[in-house]
Amino acid sequence: MYMNLRRIRRCQCVQLMTTCLVLSVVMVCWEPLDSNVVSHVKSYSFRYLVNGFTYINKSLTIPREQARSFSNFHYLLDHPDKCVGKDVLLLLFVKTSPENIERRNAIRSTWGNETYIQTALGVTVKVVFALGAPRTKKWEPSWSKRSGVGSQERLIYEDRIHGDLIQQDFLDSFHNLTLKLIMQFHWMHSRCSHAHFLMTADDDIFVHMPNLVSYLQDVSSRGVTDFWIGRVHRGAPPIRSKDSKYYVPFEMYQWMSYPDYTAGAGYVVSRDVADRIYQATLTLNASLYIDDVFMGICANAIGVSPQEHVYFSGEGKSPYHLCIYNQMMTSHGHVEDIYDLWKAATDPQVKQRTSGLKGRLYCMAVKISLLCKPYFFNTYPCKAAFL
Ligand SMILES: *[C@@H]1O[C@H](CO)[C@@H](O)[C@H](O)[C@H]1NC(C)=O
Ligand SMILES: *[C@@H]1O[C@H](CO)[C@@H](O)[C@H](O)[C@H]1NC(C)=O
Ligand SMILES: *[C@@H]1O[C@H](CO)[C@@H](O)[C@H](O)[C@H]1NC(C)=O
Ligand SMILES: *[C@@H]1O[C@H](CO)[C@@H](O)[C@H](O)[C@H]1NC(C)=O
Repeated sequence: MYMNLRRIRRCQCVQLMTTCLVLSVVMVCWEPLDSNVVSHVKSYSFRYLVNGFTYINKSLTIPREQARSFSNFHYLLDHPDKCVGKDVLLLLFVKTSPENIERRNAIRSTWGNETYIQTALGVTVKVVFALGAPRTKKWEPSWSKRSGVGSQERLIYEDRIHGDLIQQDFLDSFHNLTLKLIMQFHWMHSRCSHAHFLMTADDDIFVHMPNLVSYLQDVSSRGVTDFWIGRVHRGAPPIRSKDSKYYVPFEMYQWMSYPDYTAGAGYVVSRDVADRIYQATLTLNASLYIDDVFMGICANAIGVSPQEHVYFSGEGKSPYHLCIYNQMMTSHGHVEDIYDLWKAATDPQVKQRTSGLKGRLYCMAVKISLLCKPYFFNTYPCKAAFL
């Protein structure tokens, strides 16, 4: 009896101390925590209860003549015949910037190699690079000034070799990403409208092309429409802190939550969705410069919602393991390691060692240890381990 009482007292004491500790931590961190928690609670309630997304559509709809200012840029580089006469499974736009030539070359010789895709996978995938105009000469590095070759000349030269740059004459900058997005849908509409799917991706992601192709072939054979897949952000609040790269002023977007959208790092839509998004861009105010959010607004206007695929990483990075390679679709943040990753991920050993009952059990254990961590780690979600 006495022992028990003492144990209870000790328990209570520990509990009391923990509570105090937690409370003091909360108090110290209250302000940032507060605004963060409050804005998320608000945005979630907004999404689930208020559901004011029809207002967004209404208030951002503008006359066609005015909406045209977001799309009537001239093509500086174009390839109107890219898709002509071909049964294109996937039109893949890589969003890139003029100076990122090494990233483009890495993509061309790894996951974006059209010849490899055609011969090894037996389908036509068109990989093109979407970019705007480089800054004017005063931003050029000194060596190029001396040699007299400007950025645009270098792009023209690069395009002559590879024939895969799609460029319009808006300034290539972070705050013009929405113009780049609109360019992609307009280009598909006029040059490649028969492609079964459109994908848009960052130039620092890795795409597991064989996995993606077989997945899309399956989706396509089921005749799926209204298809939009990626890593979904639900009820995300606009960021009102001026220090953030993603800062959005109230005048630009006045609601508490964005419509659902997929992370811009990489997502796929079906042909019918691409065509209707194109139509939506003809009447929406595209001054909101966060391109993936703007995509969400367009999709909301046409009544399409995004679906989650656990092996689209969003901003997250895939762990390096063959059990992951067997199922991954995209992984973000790969530049130097892209050649090694491509080699490892497409090694025939991956299929051999992950198949059969033994392989599957082994991989489940490995994936649980890699993906189900008690702390936050931006990669595929834990539930991906059980698929
Ligand atoms: C693309 O793949 C083909 C066939 O596998 C290969 O011959 C070619 O060298 C590759 N291209 C690049 C740029 O690596
Ligand atoms: C976007 O591009 C237009 C056209 O080139 C340019 O006038 C504008 O300054 C650019 N905006 C930003 C934020 O870079
Ligand atoms: C589009 O929205 C911006 C605010 O983000 C506003 O300044 C602009 O006037 C709007 N454009 C039109 C044509 O209504
Ligand atoms: C959004 O607005 C457009 C044009 O006003 C309209 O055609 C469309 O049906 C609206 N979409 C939704 C989901 O309300």
